[in-house]
Amino acid sequence: MKRTRSSIAFTLAVIAGSTFGQVASEPKSYEGQQVIRVTHHSGEELARVLELTESLWSEGVGRGPVDVQMSRENVELLRKEGIELEVVVDDLQADAERERAEIAAKRAVAHLGGDAIDYSNYYPFADHVAFMNQLVGERPDLASISTIGQSLQGNPIWTVNATGPGDASNRPQVAINATIHAREWITSPAAEYLLESLVRDYDSNPRIRNLMDTVDWYVTPVFNVDGYLYSWSTERYWRKNRRNNGNGTFGVDLNRNWDIDWGGNGASSNTSDETYRGTSAFSEPETQVMRDFLLTLDDLRAHVDTHSYSQLVLHAPGTFAQVTPNQAALQAVAEDMSDAILATNGAFYTPQRGVDLYEAAGAFSDWTGLVLGAFGFTIEARPTGGGLNGFSPPASDILPAAEEINAAYLVMAELRTQPLRFVLPESAYATFQQDESRSIVFSVLGALNNPAASGVKVFARQSGSGSFTEITATSMGNGMYGATLNAGDCDTTVEFYLQAMTTTGTVVDFPANGATVPIVADVTADMLVFSDNGETDPGWTVSGNATDGQWQRAIPANFGRSDPTTDFDGSGRCWLTDNGESNSDVDGGVTILTSPVFDVSSGGTVNYAYWMNDETNTIGAEDYFRVEVSTDGGSNWSIARNYTTSGSWRTDSIDIGSEFGNTSQLRIRFAAAENDPGDVLECAVDAISIVVPGECGTTCVADTNGDGILSPADFSAWVAAFNAMSPACDQNADGVCSPADFSAWVANYNAGCN
Ligand code: ARG
Ligand code: ZN
Repeated sequence: MKRTRSSIAFTLAVIAGSTFGQVASEPKSYEGQQVIRVTHHSGEELARVLELTESLWSEGVGRGPVDVQMSRENVELLRKEGIELEVVVDDLQADAERERAEIAAKRAVAHLGGDAIDYSNYYPFADHVAFMNQLVGERPDLASISTIGQSLQGNPIWTVNATGPGDASNRPQVAINATIHAREWITSPAAEYLLESLVRDYDSNPRIRNLMDTVDWYVTPVFNVDGYLYSWSTERYWRKNRRNNGNGTFGVDLNRNWDIDWGGNGASSNTSDETYRGTSAFSEPETQVMRDFLLTLDDLRAHVDTHSYSQLVLHAPGTFAQVTPNQAALQAVAEDMSDAILATNGAFYTPQRGVDLYEAAGAFSDWTGLVLGAFGFTIEARPTGGGLNGFSPPASDILPAAEEINAAYLVMAELRTQPLRFVLPESAYATFQQDESRSIVFSVLGALNNPAASGVKVFARQSGSGSFTEITATSMGNGMYGATLNAGDCDTTVEFYLQAMTTTGTVVDFPANGATVPIVADVTADMLVFSDNGETDPGWTVSGNATDGQWQRAIPANFGRSDPTTDFDGSGRCWLTDNGESNSDVDGGVTILTSPVFDVSSGGTVNYAYWMNDETNTIGAEDYFRVEVSTDGGSNWSIARNYTTSGSWRTDSIDIGSEFGNTSQLRIRFAAAENDPGDVLECAVDAISIVVPGECGTTCVADTNGDGILSPADFSAWVAAFNAMSPACDQNADGVCSPADFSAWVANYNAGCN
């Protein structure tokens, strides 16, 4: 069927074109084009496929299926010839229009936080540059930006250098880049997510501080600038740079232009091919500029060239002609990177040698790996490609992709620059409550050296000065250690650092310089007045008109379809919208989980973990997963949060006082709605807690009526609190109001105020 471009799509294109800072040329049409996945069974079949191909989407050709873009007519021809194929994108023009419209629609709504980019949409080049400048502007002590040179068309190739304060000249370097291939839009946000965390988490996250104080980072989020600009203005699925090859064809594949087996297998000498290698190694300004820049670094330890799509972590050799002496070590790091990715959002990226995918001579990360002797990797981002337009995954994939790829960058950097790798969960240094005694668990793992069996220590002190005392660290096996940190009075701090010894006797502190700049956790008198781990029901109400999938409390059955695999806090149960086999999700309306009333009249924060899967991508006006707040006991409700990102458990908190005002009549509710029977939406919540500010100094828990003195009147006040299930009932601070709180009240009464 012949389709013409709709005028709506054309208008969007023109609006978009002017926003992008480009001449508003009309984008190339992909009318009549499809993307198919071909399983070829012989060289002849493959040759026939490539003959009819308009553009190769797989990043190369080798064993296994290839994704190619070709006309509907040619797909029909192949079908008649009996070639095994599956249609991945039925109408590429419609899909490109869909993406363009989604981007424009989201741009029309102000995005979160006032940043030049966020992870909920795709952004044009100027916004990426603005974001880099924004981060540098926030922390000029931690980051600087410069152009390492210019593209063929004279555009700046911006690189951000991030490293902790002080002399960085003795720190090893790590280099990260994205978008060497123009159409791989999901990759730049991954590099920017790294930059953002290096700059914005430096003060609060000891892992990041350690990596900033010991490593000199160079991050180039948009490497192929000309191609990227062109993919926004004119041809969405452009891959190469914009070299005029002089014969009517354009572009050199910047990932076949490096001097590592240049001209070998898996690179084309045909100027019209997607893998055209150029006229000689380093014939292109972009590769020259990057080469010259990397050659100025004296101790480059690791590099990732970030691509999409296929979910892979690739390392040398990239062709059979390449010699890779450290292949086992490369493979070991790639496996740890893949593990870190899997642990982030559950996506599996296969770690393997590039050559086992297909040969690709002259690739960037083979050059950094084999010529510079750094450990070079090519990460291919999500999706795997089956059934989806791999270069245009839904925008809801951007955040999870950025998170998981960032996890791989960080692990790679640790393995290649740290003598030992310390893993300390954030919960270890979360705010303490006064007099809290906290068990922490951390790991000391091998990196450049293996950890010695002994020598693992924890040093701690109270409040900012004085010497550190050693605290016993108990080995729990597998490189794991446990220790207990004791908080003192409120308004103080707990300060600590970890230490271990390498097999060669070097003592390593975590974070680096931990004795001078330790990990600091605040101690407050804030009180946990409510906590629900899903194991018992402390008084929620389930309502709503959904015909199926109403909120229930259960251990996730993990049947596969759009369910979380486990709860969040490890207790077993959580709240879920459905927990059955096959048709498991919310159907036909809304399901609402409503809390009892809480008194947060002097302020309070609601914390929780949430999980959602918008399996059919239908979150919008009708389908939603949101958190609502009432400050009048449930008569009126305001939307506090509206979630759209599927994937993993995430945590969030709502500061009731600052967002809605203090109230003695707080209720919160979690609402999951799905109105079309074809839609699939699953939601879960867990670890719900409420913390209210307490008064420092005296604790007078048994003073149930809050009059400042302990008297028999507090007993009747406790009984009233018990009947009302109000926070003052919870005398043993286990988060629930139960008969056990009676004996706790007696004990607290006898303990008096102190
Ligand atoms: N997929 C990327 C490309 O085609 C990187 C190739 C990695 N190397 C390899 N031998 N497969 O440019
Ligand atoms: Zn690529």
